[in-house]
Amino acid sequence: MNRIGVLTSGGDAPGMNAAVRAVVRFGIEAGLEVYGIHRGFEGLIDGEIHEMNRRSVGDILQRGGTILKTARSERFLTEEGQRRAVENLDTFGIEALIIIGGNGSFLGAEALRKRGVTVMAIPGTIDNDLAYTERTIGFDTAVNTVLDAITRIRDTSSAHERNTVIEVMGRECGDIALYAGLAGGAECVLVPEVPYSIPEISRKILEGMNNGKMQSILIKAEGVNIDTEELCRELSERIGREVKSVKLSYLQRGGSPTLADRLLATECAAKAIELLTSDIGNKAIGLLGGEIVGLDLTEALEVPRSFDRELYRAIDILSK
Ligand code: F6P
Repeated sequence: MNRIGVLTSGGDAPGMNAAVRAVVRFGIEAGLEVYGIHRGFEGLIDGEIHEMNRRSVGDILQRGGTILKTARSERFLTEEGQRRAVENLDTFGIEALIIIGGNGSFLGAEALRKRGVTVMAIPGTIDNDLAYTERTIGFDTAVNTVLDAITRIRDTSSAHERNTVIEVMGRECGDIALYAGLAGGAECVLVPEVPYSIPEISRKILEGMNNGKMQSILIKAEGVNIDTEELCRELSERIGREVKSVKLSYLQRGGSPTLADRLLATECAAKAIELLTSDIGNKAIGLLGGEIVGLDLTEALEVPRSFDRELYRAIDILSK
């Protein structure tokens, strides 16, 4: 193996740059030529491919976003898009491709694998929704950002004796809501994995008020099937007090990666290079029992997602 490519794809996640930096520097150290592909699969289709060197990844370790840029590529879902992507890899003599991204990007990696490309997938998404790995790069930073927001919002909620619903990201995965809710002392957490009941939430808020708790923080994951404004209206009507809402949205994707995300990104990249230079490809790199491992990509994609119901129950007990 002489030449590899690297791209970032899907929603950016803090730590993607740390992963790109480590792919480039570990790769060069191992004697590889490393090519960066811009704008994810879009750039792969369009041939936006450039050789990188150690200096190309200077001063990026601490930065959120991704210097390679990212995209959600509709064209890559087509036969023609995938054919052109493979052609470009051949034209540039790229023998293996490292793909850093979430669910959709892993499906893209699998599509390329089926077309005979050697791929290596690194989990980069704030959502933590790739079941084969205990953590995805970006999740820790995003949860810490949400925690910071909860702390600030609680100050004002407390001053005004208000109830506030904070909507967080995560697609169909409730992990951001779960961990931020637990560590932020939320009174209630709504996640797609667990059915909710508005009368039950209202009862809990009212019970809290009867016990002198005049403010509360409710965390709602975006994947929960009720509009946040609608939820606030319904709760307001039931408890007889205004309920405010805050949507944290893209705030959660920005910012400097935490120690945990920088480490995970660096270690995943090191593993990817180690495997490729041992002529092993088509793996999903991840964290399992504290170890960085490479699992068969196809099998990794089949691992069913689980949700930590014990932690979820703890929130209810701790917030009474
Ligand atoms: O997958 C990361 C994520 O931030 C999700 O949490 C969110 O649902 C989605 O991306 C938003 O996507 P976009 O950047 O296309 O608006």
